[in-house]
Amino acid sequence: MTRFPLEAVTLTVTKKIGLVFFYFAACYLELWHFHFRNDVRLKRMYSGSMRITNQGFIDAYENSNSSEFKALARQVTSQLKSIYSKSPQLAKYYVGSTVQAFSEGSVISYYLSEFDVPQGQEASVDSAMSSMDKLVDKEQRRVARPSNSLVLEDVRSSGTSTASLNAFSSVSGYMQFSMHTKPNEIGQIQSPGFPNSAYPPNTFIQWQLRADPKHIIKLDFDTMNLEEDCSNDFIKIYDSLVAIESSVMDEFCGEKPEGTVTETSQTNTMEVVFFSDASYVDRGFNASYEAINAKDPCPKQFQCRNQRCIKTELQCDGWNDCGDMSDELDCKCKPQDISCKNGLCKPMFWKCDGVDDCGDQTDELNCGCKSGLVTCKNNECVSEKHLCDGIDNCGDGSDELNCGRSTGVLCSDLTYKCKNNKCIDTVNPECDGTPDCEDGSDEENCDCGRSLFKTSRIVGGENTQDGEFPWQVSLHVKGAGHVCGASIISPQWLVTAAHCVQDDPRTRYSQPGTWEAYLGLHIQGNTAKNVVKRNLKQVIAHPNYNAYTYDNDIALMELDSPVTYSDYIRPICLPSPQHDFPAGSTVWITGWGATREGGFAAKVLQKAEVRIINYSVCNDLMKAQLTSRMLCAGVLTGGVDACQGDSGGPLSSPSGSRMFLAGVVSWGDGCARRNKPGIYTTVTKFRGWVKEKTGV
Ligand code: ARG
Repeated sequence: MTRFPLEAVTLTVTKKIGLVFFYFAACYLELWHFHFRNDVRLKRMYSGSMRITNQGFIDAYENSNSSEFKALARQVTSQLKSIYSKSPQLAKYYVGSTVQAFSEGSVISYYLSEFDVPQGQEASVDSAMSSMDKLVDKEQRRVARPSNSLVLEDVRSSGTSTASLNAFSSVSGYMQFSMHTKPNEIGQIQSPGFPNSAYPPNTFIQWQLRADPKHIIKLDFDTMNLEEDCSNDFIKIYDSLVAIESSVMDEFCGEKPEGTVTETSQTNTMEVVFFSDASYVDRGFNASYEAINAKDPCPKQFQCRNQRCIKTELQCDGWNDCGDMSDELDCKCKPQDISCKNGLCKPMFWKCDGVDDCGDQTDELNCGCKSGLVTCKNNECVSEKHLCDGIDNCGDGSDELNCGRSTGVLCSDLTYKCKNNKCIDTVNPECDGTPDCEDGSDEENCDCGRSLFKTSRIVGGENTQDGEFPWQVSLHVKGAGHVCGASIISPQWLVTAAHCVQDDPRTRYSQPGTWEAYLGLHIQGNTAKNVVKRNLKQVIAHPNYNAYTYDNDIALMELDSPVTYSDYIRPICLPSPQHDFPAGSTVWITGWGATREGGFAAKVLQKAEVRIINYSVCNDLMKAQLTSRMLCAGVLTGGVDACQGDSGGPLSSPSGSRMFLAGVVSWGDGCARRNKPGIYTTVTKFRGWVKEKTGV
């Protein structure tokens, strides 16, 4: 990263500012001299604007090469000189000004003024500049004013931030565009090379957008993929024709889900600045802009509080379409919707899905049985009195669980079977630190599911720390790189997805010789000392895997030799067949898969937090494509999910201080779409098969 220490704002900056000035000078054809001196002085730049009330705007003022532009610019600079001469601090250090642009109303002039300030005097110059309006008054009341002098109002100025100075200082590619958009025209701005290549490093681009008077400008980003850190790569938007810090509307960076960034100016001018430093590049951005009648900014649409316009139908539909929730406030819900207590409306299929969608739990109330009754696992209702009475009132035994009986319980699908074949009624007893079985077998083989870190791309994810998910494996096809994920379950065995190991005409994915497994890997291509590479001895796909339905999507891989566990390589816990992963509980997805639908794979291992989704809610959403060997996890509002390349990897479920392998990444309808959760192979259903094939 190219970052500038703040203290370096001395000589170095003197030179760098010269560079910035060169750009403006080139644009406005004004002549500048640069002095690189050795005394300790700071160049200080102020950008400003002022209204000239005794002039009318003409089209020629939009073109900085026109003689009209140059003539008015000369008048502005000479008047600025006379204004600064009224203040002793400013007069002493003033170097000169350049006019950057004019816009209408009557005429607004935008300029940059430069001062050469001895170290220690900066504050006094700042304060003199902040009361510039008084100086203007003084200047305007001058007795001997030439008759053609400009009448000035609304004088504003602000220092140019250190960040933007640093930004300008390292640039090698500079571009400036000036556009005047007419009503009903839609213009585009985008990063260089978009969409075919990533934007170049060391780039600085300015777009000056204008609209006719009485119009405002709406700028809509449909793609935005920049580096996360705003001080490295960023877009900055100003409600002004030039970059005046006081009129910044927004600065963002990073990745924004599709179509979520809209900026609307209050004036008929806007400036967009894009900067990229020397490090890291990404896909870039694409935005459209249009002029909008200021009186009716959202014709035939709903206007959000944040000025965004959305289709009227999207109001009160349960989705935060505006981004600021303003389309979901003060709603009268439709009869087919859930009316949350807090006034929000939510789609009915979110009721009782285990997730608090309303935000006040309304959608998760009265989900089970009436008061005095309890809800069985099979959704039957039985009286509270029947809990733990030794009789199976539910019909599935769930009213007889967690009753504290450590032995002699009738075995059922819901009870845990100890090594001595006796059953206990404790839910999820394995590896919880308390021996529940008489023979203590529920606490055996518990060296699993822990990492160096307490876990408090994948789409909508973030970088993991090295060693945070030490059971995560990257499966490479030799010579072709990462293809699928997998999980370590023992020193010699991995669990992955059966669909990762199906042959196709080009690659024999089912053959152990095709693959190499990377354990302890954090960054693709970075085989650090913690990374262990292994060839495979065996690949066992589930015999009942169905390539059409993805049913039984699970496979086992045996490494050619066992690995030694380390801080970066350890197994995840396998859940017993009865292990309960209730809807609504938090689970983690990890992988190096695509960070957006159709996008590139991640370099650094990504993680994201999702929730288990109620089975029947999910089966409805997925058009009844689920089998009993699939489970759903995700975020129904969209934006967070596994994606291509994550397949075979773990769905890790925290329980106490350990993680259990709840699922294997299997399939989805696109990635991270609304109401389309990710589908995972239910590992509990294959516990017996895993044991049979691997002994683990
Ligand atoms: N089948 C994909 C793969 O091979 C993984 C799909 C997961 N998709 C999802 N939306 N959760 O990598």
